Amino acid sequence: MSRAAVRPGRALRGEATLPGDKSITQRAIFLGALAPGPTRIRNANPGADASAALRMVRALGTQVRRDRDGCLLLGGGALRECDRVLDARNSGTALRLATGLLAAQPIQSVLTGDASLRRRPVDRVLRPLAAFGADISAREGGRLPPVVIRGRRLSGATVATDVPSAQVKSALLLAAIQAEGPSIVREEVPTRDHTERMLPAFGARITREGGSVRVEGSAPLHAADIDVPGDPSAAAFLGAAAALVPRSDVWLRGVSVNPTRRAFFDLLASMGAQVTFENERAAGAEPLADIRVRAGTLRPISIGAAEVPGLIDELPLLAVLAAFARGESEITGAGELRLKESDRIEAVAEALRAAGGTVDPRPDGWRIVGGGGLEGGDVETRGDHRIAMAFLVAGLRARRGVRIDDDGAIAVSDPHFLSRLRRLAR
Ligand code: S3P
Repeated sequence: MSRAAVRPGRALRGEATLPGDKSITQRAIFLGALAPGPTRIRNANPGADASAALRMVRALGTQVRRDRDGCLLLGGGALRECDRVLDARNSGTALRLATGLLAAQPIQSVLTGDASLRRRPVDRVLRPLAAFGADISAREGGRLPPVVIRGRRLSGATVATDVPSAQVKSALLLAAIQAEGPSIVREEVPTRDHTERMLPAFGARITREGGSVRVEGSAPLHAADIDVPGDPSAAAFLGAAAALVPRSDVWLRGVSVNPTRRAFFDLLASMGAQVTFENERAAGAEPLADIRVRAGTLRPISIGAAEVPGLIDELPLLAVLAAFARGESEITGAGELRLKESDRIEAVAEALRAAGGTVDPRPDGWRIVGGGGLEGGDVETRGDHRIAMAFLVAGLRARRGVRIDDDGAIAVSDPHFLSRLRRLAR
């Protein structure tokens, strides 16, 4: 465990490039393992979650080479049964996606994760996968990892996700592309759509209409070249820092502005920061841009259930920004936060209070009274990367700075976050 501290200092200036998007990287890893031939993933996310996914596909027989540019996978077209338990470590995405992937492979697999992941539900994936004929069981009556998958031939099905979750939707899509016959995967509230965007590059045949994806089953797959744009959820922390510290002016280069991921930056603009999107371009099927953020006086926010999926990973950070905004903010409809790497509703409430904030946790969000800023001090991160980064950002503006109990979890998504933040503040 190592502590880290951030104190108020200079305005943030200059530019930063971001690690490759974690969600896109993990999708490319699992599809690259399934598709025969060499798949190159450029600008792959360097964090521990992506490494966990790589180790899993390696254990399933995929050759993996990592280099400065990203990684190269040599998919064999079929996965090999593994004589060990596959460990997704802290990564919900790796565990849920692998469940859909492996349900259709003629092998048996056991999936687990670290103590945090073993507390996070899998029934949301197992239930709809059963409609394809999948044979999967899990601890506590199918609720929690470890997950045991007896892979078998699946038949196409019409299924709907019963929670708004891109992980669940993606697991279903990975099963559907291997199933016999067509499938339809439906979601009521739109969630990040990276899997849908990436599937055609690997040869899968899909059509999208509203909240439905139609998949033609068992289309032959082929390897692909994937360019991963900068991770908007990693960029959000630097953007928030620039918005908070007076006179800051920061360029975030090459960030994904996928419509299902850019809501944080749009909200930051409506709160009063100056945010502009420049050099909009594409990396394969994904749009990206350079985002310029200049500081501003922040107004409070009100976020409800419909906006939550588009901001899901940024909500702890928004809670921090709300503590510095002039007035009362309310975030509701975000009960999913209790099922993340930590119970993020409790973790944020406790950390905000420790830093002198006024927060009222609710079953599905928070009421936060801004205006007075934060005093700062010691906060606990509960081993959660997004709590750690959100409160280090708070330290830039809290009167006494903020010290976190452990910076280890940051490596899950953005191992170089602190040095990037410090370089901008120099
Ligand atoms: C992710 C989806 C979201 C998000 C997570 C990554 C993905 O989870 O919180 O960090 O890569 O699909 P849910 O799908 O559970 O909401």
